[in-house]
Amino acid sequence: MKDDRDCSGMGHYEKHAAPEHSHRGKTTESFLDKKAVLAVLGIQPGQTVLDAGCGGGYMSKEFSRLVGSGGRVYALDSDDAGIAALKAESAGTNITALVGDITVNTGLPSSTFDLIYLSNVVHGFNPGQIPGFREEVRRLLAPGGKLAVLEMVKRATPFGPPMERRLSPEDLQKFLGLVPLSTLDGGEYFYVQLFGKPDGERG
Ligand SMILES: C[S@@+](CC[C@H](N)C(=O)[O-])C[C@H]1O[C@@H](n2cnc3c(N)ncnc32)[C@H](O)[C@@H]1O
Repeated sequence: MKDDRDCSGMGHYEKHAAPEHSHRGKTTESFLDKKAVLAVLGIQPGQTVLDAGCGGGYMSKEFSRLVGSGGRVYALDSDDAGIAALKAESAGTNITALVGDITVNTGLPSSTFDLIYLSNVVHGFNPGQIPGFREEVRRLLAPGGKLAVLEMVKRATPFGPPMERRLSPEDLQKFLGLVPLSTLDGGEYFYVQLFGKPDGERG
């Protein structure tokens, strides 16, 4: 019998895809233990980081500090108003803010990113967006690069996405087709799942 959470056929998403889930203007800043998240990401000076679905870019600014002047942060979001504000704020820094969709070819250079970070973004994707997302992440990651997905826990919390939209680390592992590396249990509200590229794609 087919497991309806088997994401090889995107059953989980197909079953729960509607209605549309809006992300505009939402931020994780107040419920997140930033220090714990940054510790698990292990960002090094000189690295290139993509904050995809960056929102207001509060984590992009942290990444900017960690990669330093020899590194680069790309802050990508599909919302042009947010990106315009971040662009103005980050002019002259190592942050490049740009409008784009991480579920299609973004035009960013291949095999470049040491880290691709998505916080509270993936659960909003619809089934049709997942293959494009997977392909784009695999294209963008540098050899040895990592994908970090932060999501809210799949249990009742006082705020956050509807339960039918939430993804557990296991759900993510099933549909992303990347190698799970480690999971940070962020306590009551969130977790961070780290992935690497499959062996044959490590460069
Ligand atoms: C809930 S907000 C989270 C913002 C930020 N990452 C944070 O943790 O505060 C989700 C963000 O993802 C953006 N987004 C949704 N789908 C996207 C896509 N396909 N490509 C790029 N950004 C996307 C939305 O515009 C929104 O700013």
